[in-house]
Amino acid sequence: MQKNESNDEVPVLSITHWTKELFSFSLRRPKSFRFSAGEFVMLGLTTDEGKQILRAYSIASPTWSDALMFYSINIKNGPLTSRLSKIRASDGVILKRKSTGTLILDALKPGKRLFLFSTGTGFAPFASIIREPETYQKFEKIILTHTCRETPDLAFSQMVLKQRENDGLLSKGDIASLDYYPTVTRDEPTSDIKSGRITDLILSEEFFVDLNIKNLFSASDRVMLCGSQSFNKQMKDILIGRGFVEGSINVPGDFVLEKAFVGG
Ligand code: A2P
Repeated sequence: MQKNESNDEVPVLSITHWTKELFSFSLRRPKSFRFSAGEFVMLGLTTDEGKQILRAYSIASPTWSDALMFYSINIKNGPLTSRLSKIRASDGVILKRKSTGTLILDALKPGKRLFLFSTGTGFAPFASIIREPETYQKFEKIILTHTCRETPDLAFSQMVLKQRENDGLLSKGDIASLDYYPTVTRDEPTSDIKSGRITDLILSEEFFVDLNIKNLFSASDRVMLCGSQSFNKQMKDILIGRGFVEGSINVPGDFVLEKAFVGG
């Protein structure tokens, strides 16, 4: 065991600032730490007064990586995120060793297409899922959406999409079987980035027309949702209205959801 692992602290490998408010960081993965793609874990820092501040963070790296990646918002004066945004390589971050969560493939019934709908930092668990070979073994087609306010907020998901192509673990067919559909709500659209909330684009059917795919169909489509509370609620209502049944680890279903962890 490394010197500073006895009290749950693990070393920071790197940190990247994507915008003034969004950053990602990687921690060295303790050898014994195992998780399922899509799960979250408690992590945090110790204050100068010796108090631990911990928050839930989705793991944004795949299960086979030696590094654990996380994606965070920096909330001004937030007790944890404002401090976390200042960490540097080789600093220590507290990492609790038990991962959990419902955004896992095992909580879904078998299906043909997997839809991953996210807003903001809700993209994080999908960053892990789309780099797992198992995802492509279980589903023929993966459709990933990421909605943010402005174009620079998409930088992290765009980087992960590129990284996935260079991992070397996915076949050309696997790589081609994923459609990435980024949207912005407070910025100009471009040829690759659509304008509007994904919920509206689904209801207007523009989303399906743009990707040249069939509308959502509960018999063979499976869905994961991760975003703000109001996004999750609206998407859940859309899905339930179309006959989708929520799943859990004990009783797999047609869709699962988790709110994007942001607080503090
Ligand atoms: P909008 O700009 O129209 O609020 P936030 O930064 O507030 O977490 O939001 C991230 C993205 O999620 C924004 O683009 C925001 O759009 C969008 N969003 C927020 N609430 C909903 C919702 N209920 N349905 C769809 N998209 C939403």
